[in-house]
Amino acid sequence: MSQLKLSKDSWSSQTVFIMAAIGSAVGLGNIWKFPYITGENGGGAFVLVYLACVLLIGLPVLISEIALGRSGKANPIQGMANLARENGASKLWVLLGFNGVLAGALILSFYTVIAGWAFAYFFQSLFGVFDRITATEVGAHFDHLLANPYELIFWHTFVTVVTVLIVSRGVKSGLEKAINFMMPGLLFILLVLLGYSTTTGSFGQSFDFLFSADFSKLTWESVLVAMGHAFFTLSIGLGTMMVYGSYLSQEYSIVKASLWIAFADTAVALLAGLVIFSIVFANGLEASSGPGLLFQTLPIAFSQMTAGWFFGTLFFALVVMAALSSSISLIEPIVSWFDQNWGIKRVKAACILGFIIWFVGFGTVLSFNEWQDIHFIGERTFFESLDLITTNIMLPLGGFLMTIFVAWVMRSKEREKQIELSTNKMKLFLFVLKWISPVAVMVVFASNLVAGEIAIAMLGVAFLMYAFYAWNVSRKI
Ligand code: TRP
Repeated sequence: MSQLKLSKDSWSSQTVFIMAAIGSAVGLGNIWKFPYITGENGGGAFVLVYLACVLLIGLPVLISEIALGRSGKANPIQGMANLARENGASKLWVLLGFNGVLAGALILSFYTVIAGWAFAYFFQSLFGVFDRITATEVGAHFDHLLANPYELIFWHTFVTVVTVLIVSRGVKSGLEKAINFMMPGLLFILLVLLGYSTTTGSFGQSFDFLFSADFSKLTWESVLVAMGHAFFTLSIGLGTMMVYGSYLSQEYSIVKASLWIAFADTAVALLAGLVIFSIVFANGLEASSGPGLLFQTLPIAFSQMTAGWFFGTLFFALVVMAALSSSISLIEPIVSWFDQNWGIKRVKAACILGFIIWFVGFGTVLSFNEWQDIHFIGERTFFESLDLITTNIMLPLGGFLMTIFVAWVMRSKEREKQIELSTNKMKLFLFVLKWISPVAVMVVFASNLVAGEIAIAMLGVAFLMYAFYAWNVSRKI
């Protein structure tokens, strides 16, 4: 048996760790995805389910994932191998790591495409394209962007290259600096936009849409989407928080950090939702218009408000930065696996991965134009299918396995060393971890099995994991 392979990097302080974790969590998921899936799934009831998932599944998984990372001290695959060995468990646990590595690459392939839209909007805003633009023109402008695959590929390429460049520089120099001014900046501009949204006359309607629950609009599939999103937005279930945790030294409190991460992440999503739906209702737009929602609403606000050009440009710059601090965290688990297990150095690993992700991203680019009518899983386009498999199946599956490991497999002494809670709180935490979070994931999965295509997608993921394992079992881990 080879000796333990461990992460050598570490964060320079607790605050840096929290900032990097928040930088990973806060991204397109909060600003772009949360509003549009809320619009598609009917508002209030969906938001309530999402919030319940964050609290009862997301937070326990987040705590568990960071704890697994700090205890396993390596990338998700090697980390699980280390943990399995130390806790006398089966080597099959490395499957959890494979699931994450694969999901990370697949999510990144569409993440860079959407971040590309934000990049395009940043430059267009800078050059005054949105000055005095009307609501109809904003819609047409977005449709025009989507209809042009070459333009989308250009921006997608741009984002992929920037991501590869930052990741090549390593966790510390690459990550720490950008994040320090990005988060406060994003919060500031969201508050400015919140101020604007109270002047639209539709703020109350937006508030009602988000917070008054009408359960008749809820289907089991929207519950699956809400649960998947809780994972997506907190960056959990994949191994990002595991790698970040592996760089965390022993004296820092994982529980406290997790509370901060979950709080900041949820606050940004709700703020973005309030702002965007105020604009939707004030301009008679469709709440359920899909992935373009952010891009079809905010330019209207910027064209109407004082200093709109300045705030618009700043806003899209911050969205781009929020997206980059998340995209690097999607690739980090894989890069550290390449580095620690295959001896492929950071720069080379980032380049190889960047190329693969860039190529797969074409599928997402084409989903919005040439391949619009080609369906992959059920009625879903390539992008929608990829989103279903990764966000709604692979992430909850990964999170489920993490809760099982921490609750049932990890030695209690090690668990208590990582997760410092008073006796009573530990009892409550363990109860949730054993009986609530994993059961909830399975119930939501099971209730979606009736949709035949989702059942087949789940089987597909299981098969893929097995194939991955069989291919790797002969290698030393
Ligand atoms: N949480 C990020 C967002 O909301 C996306 C992300 C980054 C992510 N790293 C992740 C999602 C790891 C799942 C797992 O935009």
